[in-house]
Amino acid sequence: MTFMRKKIFSEKGKVLKMGENELFNVLKEHGQEHIFEAYKKLDNAGKEKLTAQIERIDWSIVSIAGQKDHTQKRGKLEPLSALEVDVIQANKEKYEKQGLEAIKAGKVGAVLLAGGQGTRLGSDGPKGKYNIGITKDMFIFERLIRNLLDVTDKAGCFVPLYVMTSDKNNDETIAFFEEKAYFGYPKDFVKFFKQEMAPSVDFDGKLYMESENSLSLSPNGNGGWFYSMSVTGVLKDVKARGVEWLNIFAVDNVLQRIADPVFVGATLDSGCVSGAKVVRKADPQEKIGVLCLEDGKPSIVEYYEMTEEIINSKDENGQLLYNFGVILNYLFRVDKLEEILSTKMPVHVVEKKIPYINENGEYIKPETPNGYKFELLVLDMIHLLDNCLSFEIVRDYEFAPIKNKTGVDSVESAQALLKKNGVEL
Ligand code: UTP
Repeated sequence: MTFMRKKIFSEKGKVLKMGENELFNVLKEHGQEHIFEAYKKLDNAGKEKLTAQIERIDWSIVSIAGQKDHTQKRGKLEPLSALEVDVIQANKEKYEKQGLEAIKAGKVGAVLLAGGQGTRLGSDGPKGKYNIGITKDMFIFERLIRNLLDVTDKAGCFVPLYVMTSDKNNDETIAFFEEKAYFGYPKDFVKFFKQEMAPSVDFDGKLYMESENSLSLSPNGNGGWFYSMSVTGVLKDVKARGVEWLNIFAVDNVLQRIADPVFVGATLDSGCVSGAKVVRKADPQEKIGVLCLEDGKPSIVEYYEMTEEIINSKDENGQLLYNFGVILNYLFRVDKLEEILSTKMPVHVVEKKIPYINENGEYIKPETPNGYKFELLVLDMIHLLDNCLSFEIVRDYEFAPIKNKTGVDSVESAQALLKKNGVEL
């Protein structure tokens, strides 16, 4: 579910010192008196911690939960044609050369979005630590680094890799990379940064607590990555190295090409300021966000936001007009991202299972969704930019997402696809 454009947080680093009275008034004003009851039972350190969390809440976001309609209003949708596989194949050499030149010139960096919680996979800890090996160990992070090494071996140089984590998994992620010697990638080319956190609420908009002195906070979605790069100072490294393009990718697609020179070259060649890898829909009803135009600008529209008429509309050759879905692998021009850095993005209100402590202090891990989390999504960045190259990939060669343990988009389906592509597991 989505809602209108609003900012998710108060500015990071803003020093706010709320007194007890003010704290009480703020909580009362927003119908959150139960948090003050919890606060009263804390020692000084606990009070300080909880106050600091409350000071950073953007109440305009929390109030969205109480509203009935969380859907985002869409503008006029039109199809956006893709650079299709046959055209890419015909120009592969040219694109690859152009892409490798940019990589060799140090202009391309990669950003691994690894701040998610992987709740569907049901494993505690970073998703990238998950072992998908069958006869030997093969961790998701390792598989991704090997994919990147395929490119850097060819280019003869390394690509800076920025890894986004969250408060929930940062230390464990770094420790794992250390333990595994960065899977053979040079440590100097890897930088970690933490994303922002957002509060969770129940269906009535009441803030959850996850321990006696802490609100229930969770990563604020994958859309705040560039803002987080900026506020954590990692963007300085991007600039210092002269990186002009960032390739953003999800942790869970173990087949994906990272800093793919053909994709980089084609995007440069197109003159677009961004690029998105897309797959042809398996069928019109496939549940995948479609890259199209909205009010003349590139946009990704979810399947549930489209009418049946739009979903099924075809061109004169019988091809679906809205036929290409995104796989969370994008290329962005850094200077354009800087221009939109302070632009507000839509906040998505998502129903989730949220562990919490109840009024008796008992820790509850719900079996079904019990409230909302607030997330920014990277796909919304595309609409803030003037144009985007839609770059088709072959699903079976580049798209093996791991969302679940079994079934669709699972460890099992990804293992089968990896084997099909000659990867030993
Ligand atoms: P998903 O939307 O699949 O979320 O993330 P998830 O947290 O990994 O899994 P579920 O929904 O809890 O089962 C897509 C990509 O965005 C990253 C994830 O790590 C993954 O690479 N992500 C997601 C973040 O980096 N931060 C977030 O807050 C959410």
